[in-house]
Amino acid sequence: MTNKHILNAEQFDLPFLLNLFKRTTQFDGQFNTSTGKIYLRQRLSNQILFNIFYEPSTRTRFSFSAAALHLGMHVVDTESASEFSSAIKGETLEDTIRVLCQYRPSAIVLRHHEDGAAVRAAEVSTVPIINAGDGKWQHPTQALLDVYTIYRKFKTLNNLTLMIGGDLAFSRTARSLIQLMSKFAGVRFIFVSPPELALLPDIIEQLQNNKVPFVEVKENSQELLKEYLSHADVVYWTRLQKERIPSELLDQISNLFTITPAHMEVMKPSAILMHPLPRNQEISKEVDKDPRAVYFQQPYYGMLIRMALLEWILGQTGY
Ligand code: NCD
Repeated sequence: MTNKHILNAEQFDLPFLLNLFKRTTQFDGQFNTSTGKIYLRQRLSNQILFNIFYEPSTRTRFSFSAAALHLGMHVVDTESASEFSSAIKGETLEDTIRVLCQYRPSAIVLRHHEDGAAVRAAEVSTVPIINAGDGKWQHPTQALLDVYTIYRKFKTLNNLTLMIGGDLAFSRTARSLIQLMSKFAGVRFIFVSPPELALLPDIIEQLQNNKVPFVEVKENSQELLKEYLSHADVVYWTRLQKERIPSELLDQISNLFTITPAHMEVMKPSAILMHPLPRNQEISKEVDKDPRAVYFQQPYYGMLIRMALLEWILGQTGY
């Protein structure tokens, strides 16, 4: 059997997503009954998940661990792998993965600072690799949970206007979400960023080739921002990825737009405000109590999505 790696957001199609979302919603229901919880604990009992994280993470690492534990798996987990693994002794990622595979885990979750690290890991791995974020490149499971959040709200993925803002050059979550959402009919994008942090040319080219409509807003104009906000169904905001931005560029960057209650006033009543978290100053805390702000619901959906993914990867379901 070939391994079911999760490497990039583009690998999923609509039938797969609908099956995954159906299962995710079933898991949500099962969490709320005691028999459901017992059933879940037996789904992947005694399988083993390795989490190896070379970059900081709170949400994603705990989310995978919690998802695995709720399904009865055992988890072996390392954070700060850049410092506390043999990487500090000069071992390559490929050699580390080869060695980890010898311990026969069911799957390996990998977060790494280099673009394309997950693909390199998959090339040498004998077990499924799940990309939990590689450099500024991809974060496919975040894209799945983001799209699931959108689907739970709108019951469709078609004909939606997404306004995506912040650091679009270095945010792997924005990149992955754009790639996944651009597969759906009638989707339009509004991109908002300082000019230095605009979308990279390869994504722009992909959108143009696929004839996906989009506009880019790069000026710091409140009027323009409010005008576009009033058209959006989904507003997805991201932080400055300081750890990835070269310092000479970081010095030139003007402030990112901050979403405040005044911005919420112009948003549609049916719209949602999303953020992959962690948040800095780009969404003010006063916005949190607005029912359209769903960024503290996204992590729960993320755990459910990762449960459904683990079940699919480890061969318990046919889709
Ligand atoms: C994101 C990431 O690591 O790319 N965090 C997450 O996984 N939810 C977003 C970020 O760090 O800004």
